[in-house]
Amino acid sequence: MTQYLTHQTIHVDRADLESSFPSSELDLRRQLVRFGRWVHRLGYTPGTAGNLSVRLDDHLILATPTGCSKGLLHAVDMVLIDNDGNKLSGTRNVTSEIGMHLAVYRMRPDVQAIVHTHPPIATAFAACGKALDQPICSEILMTTGLVPLAPYATTGTEEVSASLEPFIPDHDAILLANHGLLTYGSSLPDAFMKTETVEHFAQVCLSAHQLGGASPLRDIDIAKLQQARARYKLNASRGPSCR
Ligand code: 13P
Repeated sequence: MTQYLTHQTIHVDRADLESSFPSSELDLRRQLVRFGRWVHRLGYTPGTAGNLSVRLDDHLILATPTGCSKGLLHAVDMVLIDNDGNKLSGTRNVTSEIGMHLAVYRMRPDVQAIVHTHPPIATAFAACGKALDQPICSEILMTTGLVPLAPYATTGTEEVSASLEPFIPDHDAILLANHGLLTYGSSLPDAFMKTETVEHFAQVCLSAHQLGGASPLRDIDIAKLQQARARYKLNASRGPSCR
């Protein structure tokens, strides 16, 4: 007899599967769901755009599946891979951009999570061949630092990681020419907040340009902000984590 999957059985199957994950893994799967919804609701990942990943431990990575709306994912949809990109579990295939994520994890042992999006204003800068590298706002200098533009590379190919590699060691946010934005950090909330901050900075740069051009910060003020950034990071790392 044909068995039909009802809404309820899908729900029960999901709950069963979720309860089979260790709690630390389930927590990270749920974080991927939560920040997938955030970037989607903010309009940073229209359609099936964007992908997110997080380190589970030194050898394992959880990543979003390819070809899915980041606003509609469930914890069980995430794909478990090793550091070489081999799929270890998951009902779907891993993001087509996994090579770019692996390049960041390989070159930056401090990075725990990565967010790739297509936020409209930052992506417009990337489409016009413009880096977000004008020192006109203290906030960006206090968080990600200025944002370079990596040369154009075909999505989902090794060209992408090759184009990013020169920038990965010294930057936490990179524009991908004619494509979008990549941010990473110490946790998913941290990587997500960098995405938000870069898109806000792009909006400010655009508005300042429309208003006749911003006044850049002086070198001495930039140097002071760099010191303030180190203090800010240190203070934020004390006490209970909010990133
Ligand atoms: P995936 O659906 O394979 O993650 O690709 C989306 C994307 O944004 C490609 O740049």
